[in-house]
Amino acid sequence: MSFIIDKFKNKVSTLPKHKSWLINHDIYKYEGFWYHQGFWFHSSASFSIEITMALQEEFQAQPTNILLASHPKSGTTWLKALAFAIANRTTLKNDTNSTLIHPLRTTIPHGCVPYIESESFFNNPCYSNELISTHLPYTSLPKSIITSNCRIVYICRNPKDVFVSFWHFVNKTKGDNSPPLDLEASFESFRSGASPMGPCWDHVIGYRKASLERPDKVLFLIYEDLKKDPKEEVKKLAKFMGYPFNEDEEGDKEIEEIIRLCSFEQLRKVSKENRPGAGATPKVIPDDAFFRKGEAGDSVNHLTMEMIQILDKITFEKYDSLDISF
Ligand code: A3P
Repeated sequence: MSFIIDKFKNKVSTLPKHKSWLINHDIYKYEGFWYHQGFWFHSSASFSIEITMALQEEFQAQPTNILLASHPKSGTTWLKALAFAIANRTTLKNDTNSTLIHPLRTTIPHGCVPYIESESFFNNPCYSNELISTHLPYTSLPKSIITSNCRIVYICRNPKDVFVSFWHFVNKTKGDNSPPLDLEASFESFRSGASPMGPCWDHVIGYRKASLERPDKVLFLIYEDLKKDPKEEVKKLAKFMGYPFNEDEEGDKEIEEIIRLCSFEQLRKVSKENRPGAGATPKVIPDDAFFRKGEAGDSVNHLTMEMIQILDKITFEKYDSLDISF
C-alpha cells in the first residue's frame, strides 16, 4: 500500500491537521471530515485518508451493489448482520434441517460484508459482492456509487451513545496496556468534530438529506428504532433491499428467525467462539470488541450531566427539521 501513501503525500501535506484522540497520531481534514493518515490502524492503511482518495479515483460501484453506510459505532455490525441474513435467507431456512450452516453462525458480520476502505478489499475488490459497506461520509463517496444508482442503507445512532461506544472500543483495541483514554479530552475532540470520520453530526446529515432527496435509493435507519421495533424495521430494510417478506405467518416467522440470528446475544456468542478465520479484517481487532452492551442510552452511565447537555444541544441544533429522533 505504500505506493498509494506516496501518491497522495503532497495532497495530504496541505490539509489542516489535529491530534487524534484515539492514538498519538495526527488526523487530517479532508472535504469537511477528519481522517487518519497512512498506516495508522494496527499497521494497516485501512480507513486512511489515502485509501479514501484512491477509492474516489478508482472505485467502480455496480448498480446491483447495496452499500451499508454508517459513522463508526452506530450499529454497523448489526446492520451488516441483518442485511446479510435478509439477502441469504434461503440458507437460514435450510440450516435448521441440513448440514448447511448459515455463515453468521460461525463468522461475525464484518467477515460477511467487507468495508470498501479496508486494505484487503482495495487490493482485491470483489465487485460482485452485492453487499458492501463504508464509514465514508456521503459527500466523499466515490462518484460511481452515486452514478451507478446503487442502493444505500445508512444507520444512525444517538451521538451520546456513539461517543461512549467509540471510547470503549478504542480502549479495548488500542493494543497496549496503557490506562484508558482520558474521557474528558476524548469528549472534547468528539464534541468539536475533530474525531475520525467526524463531525459525527455532519456525517449523519449528509446521508439524511440524501435519503430525503432520493428515498428510493437511500434508506435511513435509526439504531434506537431497531431496538424498539425490530420487526417493522427489518421489514422496511428487506423491502428496500428488494427482498420483501410475505405478508403472512410464514413471512413473520422468517423475520423472527432473522432477528434471533442477528441478536446481540447470538452475535456476541459467535464472536467469543473464536473460530479461525471467523472475524473481521484486520484480524488484530478481537471479534468480541464489536459487542459490548448493545443497549440504547448507556451513555448516561458514563457522561456527566454537563457532557450530556452539550451533546444534546448540538444534536438538537444540527438535526433541526431533519426529523431524526432517538
Ligand atoms: P455499545 O458499545 O454501546 O454496546 P458498530 O457496529 O458501528 O461498531 O457499533 C458497535 C455498537 O453496536 C456497540 O454498542 C455494540 O455493542 C452494538 N451492537 C453490535 N451488535 C449489535 C446487535 N446485534 N444488536 C444491538 N447492538 C449491537
